[in-house]
Amino acid sequence: MKTIIEPFRIKVVEPIRVTTVAERERLLAAANYNLFALQSRDVLIDLLTDSGTSAMSSAQWSALMNGDESYAGSPSYTRFEAAVRDMMPFKHIIPTHQGRAAEAILCSIVAGEGLIVPNNTHFDTTRGNFEGVGIEALDLVIDEGRDPSCQHPFKGNMDLDRLESLLAKHGDRVPLVMTTITNNAGGGQPVSMANIAATKALCERYGKPLFIDSCRFAENSYFIKLREAGFADRSVRDIVREIFSYADGMTMSAKKDAFANIGGWLALNDDDWAEQARTRLIMTEGFPTYGGMSGRDMECVAAGLAEITDEDYLCYRIRSIEYISERLADFGVPVMRPAGGHAVYVDAKAMLPHIPPLQYPGQALLAAVYVAGGIRGVEIGSFMFGRQPDGSEKPAAMELVRLAMPRRGYTQSHADYLVEVFEEVNRNKHAIRGLEISWEPKSLRHFTGKLRPV
Ligand SMILES: Cc1ncc(COP(=O)(O)O)c(C=O)c1O
Repeated sequence: MKTIIEPFRIKVVEPIRVTTVAERERLLAAANYNLFALQSRDVLIDLLTDSGTSAMSSAQWSALMNGDESYAGSPSYTRFEAAVRDMMPFKHIIPTHQGRAAEAILCSIVAGEGLIVPNNTHFDTTRGNFEGVGIEALDLVIDEGRDPSCQHPFKGNMDLDRLESLLAKHGDRVPLVMTTITNNAGGGQPVSMANIAATKALCERYGKPLFIDSCRFAENSYFIKLREAGFADRSVRDIVREIFSYADGMTMSAKKDAFANIGGWLALNDDDWAEQARTRLIMTEGFPTYGGMSGRDMECVAAGLAEITDEDYLCYRIRSIEYISERLADFGVPVMRPAGGHAVYVDAKAMLPHIPPLQYPGQALLAAVYVAGGIRGVEIGSFMFGRQPDGSEKPAAMELVRLAMPRRGYTQSHADYLVEVFEEVNRNKHAIRGLEISWEPKSLRHFTGKLRPV
């Protein structure tokens, strides 16, 4: 059959509230044109993030009842550890409340002024954690990965020449190498198996451990199956196992490719680092057999890991994002191509050239999309990145709108509705006005800053 369906049926529903254009205009003005300030009940389709927003399966909800909340030696930890180790056979698996806690623990081990940690692209919490302990967080993604319109099957790949030259010149300052699958900050673009293997070979040559920031490991593996020669007949689970065979450790947010609403882990092979990590875990998260999670959370993660490599699910997941991107491109909305694994990215600078970057075209587009159809996304552009440490303001490299799809949360008709909303917004795009900031905090202004139409 050529129709790809949602490979699940719906047993529990959560009503969403339909509002009118007039209501949304009022709500948006009351939120000072910042969609983070909206109540979620006022949003019809919420594409702010794919993190922690998955619909859990009946197997996950029933596993939750098996949660054993013992402080030490919980069987829920044993089941969680076994589920992780089935795909990621690390010696030490350390549970945390989410991905950034795993990063913070890793950073506490390797902290040091003057050190450098390369990555294809650091996610913002990873960057923040490394920079917070004096480490330079260096992005070495290939050039194609910085161009939204460039067609390349693995735009998340590490630039191996630049990595090698860093290791040759400053190897003594590099405590570890990281690679992020998929590359969230670069549009959810995948990394090829060949690139992961070659990164590991370089790490071995220079005696450095390779850590994988693994939040979307299943989506990345499915892209490898679809796009990389030699993998079409391998199962996704098998591809996942090969990926992690190249790694010395991983950080993970279970809020993505484990279908959980909360949770994460740090896993690694080095005994000495693991001892330091567990000591830190006890101080900041909890005892090593629960860390930052309750027993029931660990059960949900274990059940989610059994489901995430289902290839019918991954086919529906990847195809729905590609479908929306293709439909938007068909009527001239500039989108990132090829589509990434967890979100549709619209190039607001190209779509709204009449709005200067410092009138925040991405934020202006999001406001128009919310008014037209009650859809919420997030701006990744000058509103997020424009304010400089010296207080000046400069345009960001790109003005993107990200529409991140919660896992298993929405259906084909939601996708078609989204396309229709963009069709209408695109027709009236010349009437969209820029925004100016009326108030902003000292940092991270995109979360709480206030705007008004110019
Ligand atoms: C690539 C990547 N790394 C790390 C994190 C942090 O995970 P968490 O939100 O669970 O702290 C995220 C979250 O979005 C991410 O996308």
